[in-house]
Amino acid sequence: MKKMTKNIILAGTLLFTFNVNAMPNMGLSAPSNSDYYDNGMPSAEKVKLGKLLFFDKILSGNQNISCATCHHTLTDTGDGLSLPVGEGGQGLGITRDTGTGSDAIHARVPRNAPPVFNLGAREFTRMFYDGRVAVNSGHPSGFDSPAGDDLPDGLDNVLAAQAMFPVTSAEEMAGQAGENSQTNAAAAGNLPLVWEIIANKLRNIPEYVDLFKDAYPDSISQASDITYVHAANAIAAFEAQAWRFDNSPFLRFLKGDRKALSPSEKKGMRVFYSPRKGNCASCHSGPFQTDHEFHAIALPQIGPGKGDDFDGHSDFGRERVTGNPDDRFKFRTPTLSNIALTAPYGHDGAYDTLESMVKHHLHPRRSLRNYDTTQAVLPSRPDLDAIDFIVMNDTQRVNEIASASEINRTRLSHRDFKHLMDFLHALTDPAAIDLRRNTPSRVPSGLPVRD
Ligand code: HEC
Ligand code: HEC
Repeated sequence: MKKMTKNIILAGTLLFTFNVNAMPNMGLSAPSNSDYYDNGMPSAEKVKLGKLLFFDKILSGNQNISCATCHHTLTDTGDGLSLPVGEGGQGLGITRDTGTGSDAIHARVPRNAPPVFNLGAREFTRMFYDGRVAVNSGHPSGFDSPAGDDLPDGLDNVLAAQAMFPVTSAEEMAGQAGENSQTNAAAAGNLPLVWEIIANKLRNIPEYVDLFKDAYPDSISQASDITYVHAANAIAAFEAQAWRFDNSPFLRFLKGDRKALSPSEKKGMRVFYSPRKGNCASCHSGPFQTDHEFHAIALPQIGPGKGDDFDGHSDFGRERVTGNPDDRFKFRTPTLSNIALTAPYGHDGAYDTLESMVKHHLHPRRSLRNYDTTQAVLPSRPDLDAIDFIVMNDTQRVNEIASASEINRTRLSHRDFKHLMDFLHALTDPAAIDLRRNTPSRVPSGLPVRD
């Protein structure tokens, strides 16, 4: 099956070399409603509820951070930073600071807050850079996740399963042990209690009770019926609808509009798909430019790290999930939907521009060794700054990252590089440029939504 697809793509690429317009779609087809959950039409009541929850700090332990803080409408569903400032920070986007006094953050969040575009398409079966939340029909809940058997039944899809976790993380939304009951439960590893504590907060807000009843007429008739699973399913419905963007010039081209791409963008598409040029589609395949697999491309490792190696400052990526050393430094191939809008790039936001990210792919080892740390977008605080580049300053660890790279060297002419960049800009859906319409003016808890 895999081989067949490959051959189709190859055959496509050859044809393509002669005449871009003669080549209909490189074996690709644009997504349509049936490729999304609920046929692309989740219930309006669930979406309405999910939108409010996504922006409501009531879900966090200290009621000071929402999903939107890190996945904001002003920063294209990311936060504009290399690494997020989680619970305890203040402000939004690149002006967010590390907080003050005893509330100040204890550490940076170790990975970049990724954009959350098009995750309501069924083909996205693995969440997070290391795929630690993933569809698994063999598991009673239907999903593999860090919660194991504690993950409850009734989650609509993997996006909903993902929404169970940010509220359990001390750095992201729960807060530090001792600060609140939500964190204490999380620190004790009692995730069901975390979810129960949040559900209880929601049960006590009459406006939410009505919204939950509207969204789940069959299963919720009174406040006590509300669970965090209902909340997660609503958040997923909102994300699937609000962040669906499949009207980029590239996808319009796939749908048959031959004029959707400019001549330079078409040439760039050839560079992207041709194995003899950019060869990008060997990993960034499919309509959303991802094979959903894990690859090592020698990205610079910055920030506090995920707790790996002797001092905890490394991030072993996929190996953290599989335990297989062959998976060390592999990260999930990201989708490139709206990629021009979502700097910084990579699992730790190491590259601040699209150009430097793409150039990294062309010569990964050299780019890793010459990494310019000044491009990292990290709010400064001396104790945090002191550990940000520990791995990059350690030649042995840099060498280990370099030698794991699956890409050696890709030679592109200046002209081809320019066309490639033009093509990447043609992956932007115009509707994604301004997302303010998806911001509620208020949330039922009454907590502020403007920061
Ligand atoms: C403090 C910042 C922060 C907050 C708050 C936060 N996230 Fe995230 N989010 C991240 C980071 C960082 C990752 C990537 C982590 C990783 O891959 O290990 C992520 C990953 C995700 C993903 C997976 C994307 C993908 O392509 O795999 C989704 C979906 C998501 N977040 C939704 C949410 C929702 C829903 C909430 C609220 C319940 C939330 N996030 C709260 C920082 C945050
Ligand atoms: C061997 C597989 C592979 C190939 C080939 C490849 N990429 Fe990637 N790409 C990845 C992986 C894996 C990441 C994420 C790495 C990380 O976060 O550490 C990535 C990240 C990116 C990003 C940043 C995405 C984001 O949201 O942060 C861009 C842009 C990108 N690739 C473009 C390209 C282009 C253009 C080409 C062709 C010149 C290409 N890639 C070839 C695997 C690949």
